[in-house]
Amino acid sequence: MNQLALRKVTENVYNIGAIDWDRTLFDELVPLPEGTSYNAYIVKGSQKTAMIDAVEPAKQEEFLRNIEEYGLEKLDYIISNHAEQDHSGLIPLILEMYPEARLVTNEKCKGFLKELLPIEDERVDVINDGDTLSLGDKTLEFIFAPLVHWPETMFTYLREDKILFSGDFLGSHLATSETFSKDDAQTQMGAMRYYAEIMMPFRVMIKKHLRKLENYDIEMVCPVHGPIYKNPDFIMDLYREWTDDAVRNRVIIPFVSMHGSIRTAVEHLTDELSRRGIEVIQINMIESELGKLTTELVNSATIVFASSTVLTGPHPTMVYTAAVINALRPKTRNIAILTSFGWASKCTETLKSLLPNFKNQLFDTIDFKGHPKTEDLKRISELADTILAKHKELGLL
Ligand code: FEO
Repeated sequence: MNQLALRKVTENVYNIGAIDWDRTLFDELVPLPEGTSYNAYIVKGSQKTAMIDAVEPAKQEEFLRNIEEYGLEKLDYIISNHAEQDHSGLIPLILEMYPEARLVTNEKCKGFLKELLPIEDERVDVINDGDTLSLGDKTLEFIFAPLVHWPETMFTYLREDKILFSGDFLGSHLATSETFSKDDAQTQMGAMRYYAEIMMPFRVMIKKHLRKLENYDIEMVCPVHGPIYKNPDFIMDLYREWTDDAVRNRVIIPFVSMHGSIRTAVEHLTDELSRRGIEVIQINMIESELGKLTTELVNSATIVFASSTVLTGPHPTMVYTAAVINALRPKTRNIAILTSFGWASKCTETLKSLLPNFKNQLFDTIDFKGHPKTEDLKRISELADTILAKHKELGLL
């Protein structure tokens, strides 16, 4: 059952993609509390018609129904901005349905597509950064933008309509019947979470891409996930803030406490930091879902990992937490580790080894046996002093 017909974007641009209200997990990793969408666009020029990206294969039925409803009798080009299968998986079907259509993409994307899908060389036209493709009265320009999300990613810019087809970039995992963003708090949270979980590892590259895009007059951003932005500044200003080097006067404490010892230490640290004028976000990793952690990672100055010991290592949930944070590479400036153990521990050592991307940020570790004693609490108070000094050095208070 098609949940929504195709959506008109402008006079000659349509979104023929599909909304996935029910999907709960992306890449078998990222929870999707608000579902997602796979947007695919038709751009009709006076002489030629192009499709920009396709959709997730599981949504083939909806996609084909939208193509039929649009009445796409002839397709000249299918542009692939990104080879990941949620946008490319149905390209072979489109090439089969439209034997005249050329697949247009960059050399690297062509390579990935050929590895992932049955695509023949002779159907592909390779373009370079800055190349254009005429559709008659409309011109598509290709803007290479590697690493948002894979190394081959690129944008397509529709010059006459000033629309940026941004691929995964500037998207959000948000299933909505609205074609356009409401630019409200829900949109911002969805976009922030998406940034944290998909885009944050590429923060440095994103800053570069945002600068490059300043050379373009953009009136609309059409990503492949979530709503379209009629006010590009809404999402681009958020990305400027999130990718900026500035951090907030905030400590996040992801923790697991098996018998209350770590909980006591975390409460004590929270009190001590609050007394010093530092905001604290406790995240019980057993109770919280991943998005709570990832969104807090975007701007926080400091992370303190706090873990009980299971046998001699960190609690497995904290192993996962450390691995996720290491992979997402937040701009966090300071990291400390707090552990409690029963008889012997490699807990701190193991957590450190799981954070190779943060060797320079890791400044302190505290481990204590059993429940924290007066001496242990004193060390935790001293940790709060050190964090205060570091936040002062950063000019955060
Ligand atoms: Fe939405 Fe990187 O695929």
